[in-house]
Amino acid sequence: MLTPAGTPYTHAARDHLWMHFTRHSTFEPTDRGGLGHDVPVIVRGEGHTIWDSRGRHYIDGLAGLFVNQVGHGRTEIAEAMARQASELAFHPLWSFAHPRAIDLAERLASAAPGDLNRVFFTTGGGEAVESAWKLAKQYFKLTGKPTKHKVISRSIAYHGTPQGALALTGIPDAKKMFEPLVPGAFKVPNTNFYRAPEALREDEKAFGQWAADRIGEAIEFEGPETVAAVFLEPVQNSGGCFPPPPGYFERVREICDEYDVLLVSDEVICAFGRIGSMFACDDFGYQPDIITTAKGVTSGYAPLGLMLASDRLFEPFREGTTMFPHGYTWGGHPVSCAAAMANLDIFEREGLSDHVKENAGLFRAALDTLTDLPIVGDVRGAGFFYGIELVKDQQTRETFDDDEAERLLRGYLTPALFEAGLYCRADDRGEPVIQLAPPLTIGPAEFDDIAARLRSVLTDAERHL
Ligand SMILES: Cc1ncc(COP(=O)(O)O)c(C=O)c1O
Repeated sequence: MLTPAGTPYTHAARDHLWMHFTRHSTFEPTDRGGLGHDVPVIVRGEGHTIWDSRGRHYIDGLAGLFVNQVGHGRTEIAEAMARQASELAFHPLWSFAHPRAIDLAERLASAAPGDLNRVFFTTGGGEAVESAWKLAKQYFKLTGKPTKHKVISRSIAYHGTPQGALALTGIPDAKKMFEPLVPGAFKVPNTNFYRAPEALREDEKAFGQWAADRIGEAIEFEGPETVAAVFLEPVQNSGGCFPPPPGYFERVREICDEYDVLLVSDEVICAFGRIGSMFACDDFGYQPDIITTAKGVTSGYAPLGLMLASDRLFEPFREGTTMFPHGYTWGGHPVSCAAAMANLDIFEREGLSDHVKENAGLFRAALDTLTDLPIVGDVRGAGFFYGIELVKDQQTRETFDDDEAERLLRGYLTPALFEAGLYCRADDRGEPVIQLAPPLTIGPAEFDDIAARLRSVLTDAERHL
């Protein structure tokens, strides 16, 4: 396929596009020292299937990037966006409002748990996280605790790339080129039960209490009068889907209340049915002070992110000359809000929450069949969101060294999965994992199909170490 200028798409992409988190040497010609691969160019989507510029099709096993809940090709959303663009293309939310932002804020506030009634729109997840940290700082300055500014998050967690959100991110390789980052961000252990300390491997609840207590300990170490917020995903994505152990969030909530520290539920991936409920804190029964989210709110038809804050946090902003001196030109763009409203209409009409709740066990069971393969160490996750951790030795849980992980993931798995017709992600930000988060519309036939494709690729993996 050619670009309008006549160059093959893959070459124009290689020569002009700067792709995100991408090793461009993969696509450089071999005579320039590269691997000479073609840039994969995705040109079309329908339901849970995507097509590339070679005409091949793939199961969209990652919903783009944990984004597309209702599937591709929903003309209903496209039409709502077109209508909105014709009626009012743009107006900012800086001292003004527009109908779609109002509609959406009201709808999200009524779906959110407890008193999370105030919606601050951004254009994506990192900005939502950034906004939440700034709000936490300002809230405490306004309410007589001005030294509360530090934040706590978990190791290997990803919270975005703005320099505040990146400071919260717990992935050293994503941060080291940009140090120094925003000071005041501290890390605690995540909830990877498969890699729990030896003494806690048999008791998930005890592990959960131990992990939650590390948050209390970090608050004590830093001084409770300096800590503003804890940022946690309901199910941590990076590292390969770590669900919360039973009782974990209950204990975290207690700790946050004890020290007057805000609990931020970073649901950039987990909201809008990914785990089952509209907001994943409801799936695990905890009440956050702030939810940050993005991605699935529009199913990717337009960019949008948001922070949902409690009434308590908004209270000081009702008075006098006080304002939150923070915002984004595109935050709450009318066309994005129209896309979100149409997306949520589909979500509700088609009962996608119930569909995920009813079918999550079947999805998991299909993936669990892979545990007979020696390379599969652990299958974990919840809802329509799973990680498969790969190991060198199932018995000892020994993982791969850096060279082996490089050969396995980049050399073999990523291209092999794609060739097998499955777009998903092989990731080694923690231990090597395959990540799956398909559109929420898929069902048992696709679960088996995904498992069969994974089986064929993983069966062959050992030969490529
Ligand atoms: C939990 C979490 N927080 C924040 C972000 C950043 O979102 P964005 O890429 O929209 O800035 C992501 C992105 O994947 C995420 O998974």
